[in-house]
Amino acid sequence: MHRKPNYKRLVVLSISTLAISLMAKVFADGLEGLSTRILNQSFTQAQPGLSNEEVDEFILGKSFFRIPWVEAPSATTARDGLGPLFSANTCVNCHAKNGRGKVFDANNIIDRSHVIRLSIPSNGTDEHRRMIAKTGFIPEPNYGAQISINGVPGVPFEAKPLVYYSTKNIHYPDGVVVTLQQPTIELKNLGYGDLHPNTIVSARIAPALVGLGLLEQITDAQILANEDINDVNHDGISGKANRVWSNQTKRMEIGRYTWKASVPTLKHQSANAAINDMGLTSSMHEKQTCTPIQTQCIDTSQNDEQELTMQRLDAISYYLTHLKLPKSNLIQHEGKRLFSEIGCAKCHVPSYVLPNGRIHPYSDFLLHDMGSGLADSRSEFDALGNEWRTPPLWKLGRVALILKDNKNFLHDGRAHNLEQAILWHGGEAEKSKTLFMNLPVSGRGKILQFLNEI
Ligand code: HEC
Ligand code: HEC
Repeated sequence: MHRKPNYKRLVVLSISTLAISLMAKVFADGLEGLSTRILNQSFTQAQPGLSNEEVDEFILGKSFFRIPWVEAPSATTARDGLGPLFSANTCVNCHAKNGRGKVFDANNIIDRSHVIRLSIPSNGTDEHRRMIAKTGFIPEPNYGAQISINGVPGVPFEAKPLVYYSTKNIHYPDGVVVTLQQPTIELKNLGYGDLHPNTIVSARIAPALVGLGLLEQITDAQILANEDINDVNHDGISGKANRVWSNQTKRMEIGRYTWKASVPTLKHQSANAAINDMGLTSSMHEKQTCTPIQTQCIDTSQNDEQELTMQRLDAISYYLTHLKLPKSNLIQHEGKRLFSEIGCAKCHVPSYVLPNGRIHPYSDFLLHDMGSGLADSRSEFDALGNEWRTPPLWKLGRVALILKDNKNFLHDGRAHNLEQAILWHGGEAEKSKTLFMNLPVSGRGKILQFLNEI
């Protein structure tokens, strides 16, 4: 049968093409606003004004962040101890140029900076309760807390992760259509038998390491001031701080780093990264993560001493806290106003006053229910399976531009641009997202432009 052309559809299509090209222009204009000088600012320079001794400490920390660790025994005891199980042999493998990690490498294979976390639901026993109190979750019995994609000779790697995407279209009221990609993770070549039938798999990409020293200066009281666990002000948003166990201070602390805010300090996170990602023990993690079934791993790590000494951990966190924060170039003030008006700033809290002045990270560092679309079902301390920490938005566009192929937003890198990241918002952010979708295309463009400038 011959169909009549659907004029209504054609009109909608051409309007949306116009809208997309308009938006592309607004977006491109935003990027042009950033001068080459600012674009070239790297994320690896030291803060200005450090004394000679401080520069030495910064360089020492940078070297521990960058050196490839090797397996023991080796000719160089200064940096051996890698493994037995590991995913990378240096921090920069996953934090290249201190920018974000990515989902795929150049050969379209899952990148090592895309980490796969494993856990199982608690069975309510005392043993599980004790584990949750100290680590925040129950690791998978045969594979532990995270998939290691490498092992030293004689120790089989744990698995090869694969990621598949299904797509869904989001329709703006003005007819523009955006396609979002929903990931599913599969673990192939499992080296240590079947996974527990109720295994919870959570993918995370490495966030950019930007402005961390300034974030460390925000006080717990400043974070707690924005908490509204029972939504007393009835705005539909109920931010909650994560309260987590610290291996460093041996007490409960307010978490502020990682995608679920389950880590209280940079030193703690560096020690976590060392053990989970590289197999390096420290005073915070004295034992390797071998599970009982991983006998080769256990045999190989009999004599492991503290491979990352406190002096080295101190140097690494000194490096991270003394990185220079690139300048912003805020021109799009109307975008900033709209960002507040539609409620983005309720979670992405624009600024904090520190002893040396005001900083603008755009985060409350609190946990929010972001809806079932983003949920990973994994709890970490007080963070539930549908909750995520509001990530700081400063330098977001800049990081993506500096690392050209590196546009992986949200916790698992599923969004390829800022607009897609916003369209994934649900749960407590549903209202704000709907207001964004109801803005005219020029208003949306202004917000995106603003995000590229901050
Ligand atoms: C195998 C990849 C990998 C390696 C190697 C790695 N990281 Fe990470 N890093 C990640 C991922 C993934 C996250 C996010 C973790 C999460 O949210 O659960 C992260 C998060 C962080 C954070 C928190 C940033 C924030 O804003 O919350 C810091 C700090 C950090 N890493 C430092 C380090 C240091 C120091 C090393 C080396 C000792 C290192 N990382 C090695 C992948 C890696
Ligand atoms: C209820 C709190 C909340 C509100 C309101 C909110 N966000 Fe978010 N935002 C989050 C959380 C939490 C994440 C991280 C979600 C994830 O990774 O799964 C996030 C992530 C993002 C990201 C990606 C950041 C990254 O590092 O990948 C962008 C961009 C963003 N938000 C912009 C906005 C804009 C623009 C608005 C207003 C339309 C908004 N957000 C409203 C909580 C919120």
